[in-house]
Amino acid sequence: MFSRKLTDQIQICLSVPQFAEELFSLTDRNRSFLRVWLPWLDGCKASSDTRQFLELQLSRFAKGEALHVTIVYEGAIAGVAGFNSIDRTNRIGYIGYWLGEEFNGKGIMTTVVRDLIAIGRDFYSVQKIDIRCATANARSRAIPERLGFSHEGTLRRAERVYEQWYDHEVYALVLGERP
Ligand SMILES: CC(C)(COP(=O)(O)OP(=O)(O)OC[C@H]1O[C@@H](n2cnc3c(N)ncnc32)[C@H](O)[C@@H]1OP(=O)(O)O)[C@@H](O)C(=O)NCCC(=O)NCCS
Repeated sequence: MFSRKLTDQIQICLSVPQFAEELFSLTDRNRSFLRVWLPWLDGCKASSDTRQFLELQLSRFAKGEALHVTIVYEGAIAGVAGFNSIDRTNRIGYIGYWLGEEFNGKGIMTTVVRDLIAIGRDFYSVQKIDIRCATANARSRAIPERLGFSHEGTLRRAERVYEQWYDHEVYALVLGERP
């Protein structure tokens, strides 16, 4: 598939509906792990839901609105990442991501986000990259912090995840200001 090899172990592929079965299986195995931070788990009940989501992402990719990539680690699907939205008017890319629990702690997502920054700059000509994380989500916050993003502020009650409201920490990288 259309892919970029980032290291000997890590590859990112443009997400296509053919990944639905394996990606759903990863999601299903990690339901309780992901449910702490992500609001859509209860709506993803079968591989057909994942397939429908991937079809939507591919059509958004075609319109230049988003880029959804599937992360492959040592040949197995490990998670997803991408630009959830691309604001072409203001040239801002909004990054989101998740990994299966068994793929945490290996530096996979930091490597992937570093590459997404390059894609944003070189392919989409964005001038700013935005990452938003729930305040208590230390592992997620560590990624923009590790990559030199600035903390721009806190959005209060930014997201409802099942019965809880989360504040969001907003991180940004202004590409012209990169050292
Ligand atoms: C957020 C999430 C992607 C972070 O995963 P992660 O494995 O911590 O992130 P990385 O892949 O960048 O790995 C970093 C870890 O690998 C270690 N590591 C090993 N090699 C590394 C390398 N070459 N580069 C960077 N880190 C490396 C780091 O020390 C760090 O481990 P530590 O936290 O124990 O110190 C993951 O926890 C997740 O999917 N959570 C659930 C969904 C979620 O919260 N999504 C985000 C919503 S905003």
